[in-house]
Amino acid sequence: MLRKLLIGTALATSFAFSAHAADVKEVQMLHWWTSGGEAAALNVLKQDLAKEGYAWKDVPVAGGGGDAAMTALKAMVAAGNYPTASQMLGYTVLDYAAAGVMGDLTETAKKEGWDKSVPAALQKFSVYDGKWVAAPVNVHSVNWLWINKAVMDKIGGTEPKTLDDFVALLDKAKAAGVTPLALGGQNWQEATMFDSVVLSTGGPEFYKKAMNDLDEASLKSDTMKKSFDNLAKLVTYVDPNFSGRDWNLATAMVIKGDALVQVMGDWAKGEFHAANKTPGTDFLCYRFPGTDGSVIYNSDMFGMFNVPDDRKAAQVALATATLSKSFQSAFNVVKGSVPARTDVPDTDFDACGKKGIADLKKANDGGTLFGSLAQGYGAPPAVANAYKDVVSKFVHGQIKTSDEAVTELVKAIDDAK
Ligand code: BGC
Repeated sequence: MLRKLLIGTALATSFAFSAHAADVKEVQMLHWWTSGGEAAALNVLKQDLAKEGYAWKDVPVAGGGGDAAMTALKAMVAAGNYPTASQMLGYTVLDYAAAGVMGDLTETAKKEGWDKSVPAALQKFSVYDGKWVAAPVNVHSVNWLWINKAVMDKIGGTEPKTLDDFVALLDKAKAAGVTPLALGGQNWQEATMFDSVVLSTGGPEFYKKAMNDLDEASLKSDTMKKSFDNLAKLVTYVDPNFSGRDWNLATAMVIKGDALVQVMGDWAKGEFHAANKTPGTDFLCYRFPGTDGSVIYNSDMFGMFNVPDDRKAAQVALATATLSKSFQSAFNVVKGSVPARTDVPDTDFDACGKKGIADLKKANDGGTLFGSLAQGYGAPPAVANAYKDVVSKFVHGQIKTSDEAVTELVKAIDDAK
């Protein structure tokens, strides 16, 4: 599949160099949006661009969290076959920008006033050396619980406000014979859940010091050990078949009522939306216990490559469509995320989306908005990968104690830096 794509791109690129070639009316996009909810969201963009006469050349690389997609992208870029754009997370954008392969959307950004409408936290990753190199699509947040309402009613559960409450709730589900916690045993899913556990265990300042500043004393502290112990406790509520399960299959367990809850970023809500489920009636969204008031975020960005001149008009059309207010609303309603602009009304969003928008604003104003380490916004990819690896080894028993886990974490992060 990748080979075919590379050949296709190589042809397109060689035609592109012919003098005065007409603009290529096509957008080639690499992404990992392959679940039902994700595909539905992507359709919103495909349709918007089709209206403007642009064909869509899809380069999907399955695998939540994007690790497989980023490996495929690396190969394409190394071969000089740049897509028009690629889905990317924070620090990856900066890496490609530093490598000098990104385009420059600054003129469009100026015309469209992105400086004013895109939050500063995102501009840190979409602007490099004073130039706009990426178009932010959304803001996702990882510290959420997604709960099946009928199961919750059946077990007489209420919103867990602390980790102890959460454990008591999981016990109730277990006693009722329902899988308490739906988890996919893949490193990025485990680490995404652990982001929330660290925030809940140590509080906002600790999260920032450990997971964004990579402060060594924090990484090996008793609080970090306690975080690993809390993670170990949660993992006792997972069903025996969790290893390797895709995130959207874990979400489906909650949608169907086979499990009570999933801890996952709000892309999970895209799956509920695609299944025609309504918050408050069919499912509940709560902040991960003990993290209310803080938001751990990531943002999907379309990293814009330095494509040949005859592909630049398509790239500008893509960037303009992505940051238009109407698209930011329509897309994010379906995706489960919230807009990457501060001036988009929440009118069309469901109750969870409205809460997401309000929480983001509050966290941004109050200094409690933090980048997700699991999701590419805490540290560069090598460090994030080291983190995911240690967390996963702990979950799967290759690292046996929380003492050992913090030692391995400090070592792995040091090696990766
Ligand atoms: C992306 C989401 C995506 C999720 C699962 C995350 O890294 O930010 O857009 O839905 O992975 O594929």
